Amino acid sequence: MSGTHDTAHLALPHDAATLHVTGKARYVDDIPAPADCLHLAFGLSQIAHGRIAALDLAAVRAAPGVVGVWEAKDLPSDCDCSPSNHDEPLLSGATIRYLGQPVFLVAATSHLAARRAARLAQITWQERDPVLSLQEALEVDARFEEGPRIWQAGDVGAALDAAPMVLDGSITMGGQEHFYLEGQAALVLPQDNGDLVVMSSTQHPTEIQHKVAHALHLPMHAVRVETRRMGGGFGGKESQGNALAVACAVVAQALGRPAKMRYDRDDDMMITGKRHDFRIDYSVGFDAEGRIHAVDFVHYVRCGWSQDLSLPVADRAMLHADNAYHIPALRVESHRLRTNTQSATAFRGFGGPQGMLGIERVMDHVAHHLALDPLELRRRNFYADGGAGGLSAPHAPAAPPPEDISSQWKPDEDLASRGAVPEGGPEVAPVSPAPGPQSTHYGQVVEDFVLNALTARLAQTCDYAARRSAVADWNEANPVLKRGIALTPVKFGISFTLTHLNQAGALVHVYQDGSIQLNHGGTEMGQGLYQKVAQVAARVFGVPVGLVRLTATDTGKVPNTSATAASSGSDLNGMAVKAACDTIRDRMAAHLAALHQVPPQSVVFAEGGVTVGETRLGFAEAAALCYQGRVSLSATGFYRTPKLDWDRLRGQGRPFFYFAYGAACTEVVVDTLTGEYRILRADILQDCGASLNPALDLGQIEGGYVQGAGWLTTEELVWDERGRLRTHAPSTYKIPACSDRPEVFNVALWDGRNVEETIYRSKAVGEPPFMLGISAFLALSDAVAACGSGYPALDAPATPERVLAAIRRMQGEL
Ligand code: MTE
Ligand code: MOS
Repeated sequence: MSGTHDTAHLALPHDAATLHVTGKARYVDDIPAPADCLHLAFGLSQIAHGRIAALDLAAVRAAPGVVGVWEAKDLPSDCDCSPSNHDEPLLSGATIRYLGQPVFLVAATSHLAARRAARLAQITWQERDPVLSLQEALEVDARFEEGPRIWQAGDVGAALDAAPMVLDGSITMGGQEHFYLEGQAALVLPQDNGDLVVMSSTQHPTEIQHKVAHALHLPMHAVRVETRRMGGGFGGKESQGNALAVACAVVAQALGRPAKMRYDRDDDMMITGKRHDFRIDYSVGFDAEGRIHAVDFVHYVRCGWSQDLSLPVADRAMLHADNAYHIPALRVESHRLRTNTQSATAFRGFGGPQGMLGIERVMDHVAHHLALDPLELRRRNFYADGGAGGLSAPHAPAAPPPEDISSQWKPDEDLASRGAVPEGGPEVAPVSPAPGPQSTHYGQVVEDFVLNALTARLAQTCDYAARRSAVADWNEANPVLKRGIALTPVKFGISFTLTHLNQAGALVHVYQDGSIQLNHGGTEMGQGLYQKVAQVAARVFGVPVGLVRLTATDTGKVPNTSATAASSGSDLNGMAVKAACDTIRDRMAAHLAALHQVPPQSVVFAEGGVTVGETRLGFAEAAALCYQGRVSLSATGFYRTPKLDWDRLRGQGRPFFYFAYGAACTEVVVDTLTGEYRILRADILQDCGASLNPALDLGQIEGGYVQGAGWLTTEELVWDERGRLRTHAPSTYKIPACSDRPEVFNVALWDGRNVEETIYRSKAVGEPPFMLGISAFLALSDAVAACGSGYPALDAPATPERVLAAIRRMQGEL
């Protein structure tokens, strides 16, 4: 019954593209605030660790425009803002855990008045030595779980002992500021009966609803959260918006006035969490052919002052310790360390990039040791294309998607019992048997591998072999400017590893004029989710996308949603919307068929109209007929991801529905006198399955690559010895600018289809391309390697200073 008007794979622009570029897109701060709206600011801790001996807020209270001031003891509860562990009170109380922690809250008649007043506090601090680095945290054993989490497959000790060659090494990688262009913001409007409406720049409206309700002792039905769009989230708005919404709700409830809060950029950087920085130590056993026999990894994860999402982030790093490689014996030990710094949080890739950089470093190190082409070495260790069932041609046509996918999967029993991250339990999972040739270290069989064919194609289109020897020739001839090249793969697991989050709901209305309005639990942060979902609805009804309007994400329309995260926004919400649209379309078909006395199967929705037997109706006409026939034109839809089965404590099972794949080749040039460098060229081939929207996917790939390269090159977070973040503005924290993008940038989509029954066989694209930036880092390492002998062992971020130091080391000068 589906239409032939296939809007589900069109390269349409972002639905708000015109609004974005004309400055007319509305963000929270653009919503006209009511006349009596109050503006909030936090007073921040000036020490990283210690106590407040005396807090004198008299000058704050007396400042112009100030209407109210709250300390922890004035709040209606602890107003916990944690997404996981109930360890994040809104305001510090006497105990201080990081420099930048909110201590008190000011409400004033303007944004500026609130910020000015917040600086007037007289506070006597009792400062203690902060625990800042991974090393310091290890020394005092400050951690979030009792001991390290350890997953192991195969006998790693024995395999290392037996391996012909063994290398040890270590890499540190810095964190990363999200630098969403729109800072954190919230606006709360008090309603009658004590209810609250919250406008929030959040990836997770249900979490905002939950935390606000909890803080104010309200049932969730009294709090409605709306999110029209974010000016970027990148994971930084999964949990970090909670404090602003809760603060506004406290003031709105106490004073009965609307309240609004927006962090200034410096405050945003001082207060909110960033990407986790890691140190990864490794021992790798291998043979002369470059086959990896065993790897032993130790991950040290800097989590900051509160738990936040650190446990699942650290888990995902462990899950990506194999990246694209079958490693017969693999052990990962993960230490989740507590420090007196901002609480590290979700950031594009969610730990995956850190885990993946670990194994890519190992591959690079081994290739250098054996003087083998790094791509060739990688290929020798890849999983096989296809899966357990053997190889499949990269372009083998998959079966067409079944008409109603949502009715075919079997509900997974017992989902609810896996609701919470289990506390405690054995830290050391029993050693699992050596994984089969197509199995990961956590026991998931890789059934959809494409990287043998994909990297072969990329190597060909980007002329890898010829350019590699050209780089060698260049380096032979040029003493000052050295070039480097690297081609690296990505295999990224798609699904939330907290299994119960893999669900979504939708609400769809068809109006009697044939226009369609829809709502789902996903949020729009620039990634183009709304447009993709609108395309799905348009495809089901066989109408142009322009007939479909998505309204702001709203907890009053679709309840109990998951964060828009883990790249699964379109997978989950696309399916939920399709289910709702299918329901309405089937009702319409049944009614129209009865009217015209034809079988319902002969009703076809296509090209903006409906064919009923011999009759052709416009879609609006069909909708009007159904309305007059008293047919319900509104429906909900629901989806939950099938096949998932994951035991986090044992580190065994199937955490991912499928994998997304890609590869990038980057060439760089380094000035060996200054350490400065440029990315000359990047070539990318990314597997988006049957892309829902190739234009939007291209944007995600380009942006992801540049952001990933930024993480590993110029973006450096620096804390001083007292724990003050010194890089808290664009003047000192350098994100890639337009001029930093590769001079030649070729991006192509792999023309495959998802072997799993995802929405129209597409694949998630939000996070996977981020890890393509690893190729830029390893290209720099390659250029540095040309400056002398030995392995550069570059740490990240490879800022010009760090590159210069590495060059000097290679030249024997440091
Ligand atoms: N793209 C833009 N433009 N802005 C963003 O904030 N966030 C990324 C990615 N792409 C982001 C983005 C992250 S961290 C995730 S998890 C996904 O988008 C979320 O959206 P999706 O699930 O719809 O892909
Ligand atoms: Mo993305 S880090 O999962 O919000």
